[in-house]
Amino acid sequence: MKKTRLVLLGIMLAGVVQVAHMQTTITVDTRKPGSTIQPTMYGIFFEDINYGADGGLYAEMIKNRSFEFPQHLMGWNSFGDVKIHNDGPFDRNPHYARLTWPGHDHKHTGLDNEGFFGVTVKQGETYRFSVWARVAALISGKESIRIELVGADNEVITRQNLIIDSKDWKKYQLELKPGRTDAKARLRIFLTSKGSLDLEHISLFPTETWKNRENGLRKDLAQALYDLNPGVFRFPGGCIVEGTDLHTRYDWKKSVGPVENRPLNENRWQYTFPHRFFPDYYQSYGMGFYEFFELSEDLGAEPLPIVSVGLACQFQNGCCEAHVPVGELSDYIQDALDLIEFANGDVSTTWGKVRAEMGHPAPFNLKFLGIGNEQWGPEYPERLEPFMKAIRAKYPEIQIIGSSGPGSEGKDFEFLWPEMKRLKVDLVDEHFYRPESWFLAQGARYDNYDRKGPKVFAGEYACHPRNRKNNFESALMEAAFMTGLERNADIVHMATYAPLFAHVEGWQWRPDLIWFDNMKSVRSINYYVQQLYGHYPGTHVLKTLSGKTPLTGQDGLFASSALDKDKNQLILKIANTADKVNEVNYVFNRLKAAERDAKCIQLTSPDLDWENTLEEPNKVIPVEKAMKVDSNTLKLELPAKSFTVVIINL
Ligand code: AHR
Repeated sequence: MKKTRLVLLGIMLAGVVQVAHMQTTITVDTRKPGSTIQPTMYGIFFEDINYGADGGLYAEMIKNRSFEFPQHLMGWNSFGDVKIHNDGPFDRNPHYARLTWPGHDHKHTGLDNEGFFGVTVKQGETYRFSVWARVAALISGKESIRIELVGADNEVITRQNLIIDSKDWKKYQLELKPGRTDAKARLRIFLTSKGSLDLEHISLFPTETWKNRENGLRKDLAQALYDLNPGVFRFPGGCIVEGTDLHTRYDWKKSVGPVENRPLNENRWQYTFPHRFFPDYYQSYGMGFYEFFELSEDLGAEPLPIVSVGLACQFQNGCCEAHVPVGELSDYIQDALDLIEFANGDVSTTWGKVRAEMGHPAPFNLKFLGIGNEQWGPEYPERLEPFMKAIRAKYPEIQIIGSSGPGSEGKDFEFLWPEMKRLKVDLVDEHFYRPESWFLAQGARYDNYDRKGPKVFAGEYACHPRNRKNNFESALMEAAFMTGLERNADIVHMATYAPLFAHVEGWQWRPDLIWFDNMKSVRSINYYVQQLYGHYPGTHVLKTLSGKTPLTGQDGLFASSALDKDKNQLILKIANTADKVNEVNYVFNRLKAAERDAKCIQLTSPDLDWENTLEEPNKVIPVEKAMKVDSNTLKLELPAKSFTVVIINL
């Protein structure tokens, strides 16, 4: 009896050992490169959500700098005699503040600004203060102000005086060098003379911005984008393209030209989620289409603007009344045509000239244009059609992107894909914010897509766990799913995770790729997945099979392989989503046995729910090891719940 029990235990243990270490043989056909992987494959989606632009990537530190918020002093405290006037030097931003001596030496007139979640200043850095000003009532011919950075403790950190010496509007600027760091400082301005002066477009930027541009971007955040090595850069969203109503849609023409005269726009994310309400969230357009194109160029990514199709946000509106009638779209169509001219036109053209005057005479080389964001119903194709006719006629080289609606499948999706085929768009934008189970089930999503129709742009996607964290599990799901994008690179030409940025004090939507406060930023685990794909995209798909089938989730494995013809590298990507180790035996068909240098980059975590935070930014990051591959096979031990990329120099 005892013996039988022991034998049974032995059999059970053997079973445990066997299932605890699964084994899989994978063949990679190294000599028959398949479809080309587009250089645009892995990219960036940008939208001003979660304070992604104003208060985020755009380095301006003053909120409501032109006094154009509907509550003209929102973001400001005023004291003494301050009045708002509306006949300023910039016709699209006419408001300004008039400061007048309060009539007694012991009293003060002035303003202070709270910034975006504080005016955050760092010791050792320099900040450029600028203001448009004029003397309002000529008594002495001169007036003066004192500009201070004031700490959270109300102590002055640094101050400077400025003489306003003209009754004509002029730009003045000076530099402030704080002697200490304060995350929650304020910018305070005192009138220090006994007359009256006018102030407009009060601005404060760190002098050190991305590429040190004056109207620049926050360096650490732009660097994080650069470090993704993106192939495409989609802007300016997202729902803000559409607007809650048509007049609040993103109007690219208002976002170019001198920054002082770009009018304020509402930001729909101010109120979209009443439980995450931010009454002071507006779009200054300070980072506008010129800056977006310039950033695309800096990043080496193809610019991909999206324009309104004449439909205000369909989530926020019923039908009809909020939309432009089909026969009245000509201004919207002209905006799209003019945008192409702005990006690519010769400097002698109207909009090419605007671009040149802004500092970029060379074209931006625009190749792609999205028409409409998350649209649905028959109202979309009937509007898209006249856009397409006009663009095809004038700019046949531009690739047009149409929408498949807000869902990853379902009624709208089923209706729009055939419509997009009928209209012959070049790419169809698909959006999916779905849970882990969806990502696990979608490894083969694109395997049976029609190869003759438009290509796919997975234009917004992210794994949404129940707790909405950027946790390790969500990143692993995305890594696994993305092997399916790569295997289907003949049809999937672009993919962009969304949203991109979130301020920890000002988010409306999560998860997001990069989190930040005013002092620092953190790259989520999902970011590292995007980065691995972005840095090792390969140029051609290689057939990667277990037996006769691709790995789309069998035993939890998802795999793809690519050849990089330019770098002469073999790139293997494999996600093990199972909770068991898998010993994988790669066999490289028709590759000569030889010793080769390689590296293995692995992303694992002791806990599926771990995430990187501002306090622990490197809690889960990829770990890289050099290795040698000395034959035409490779044994890899894949930890349970892991993503592995192997790069072999051929
Ligand atoms: O990425 C956040 C939002 O999700 C986008 O603005 C919209 O297109 C989608 O619904």
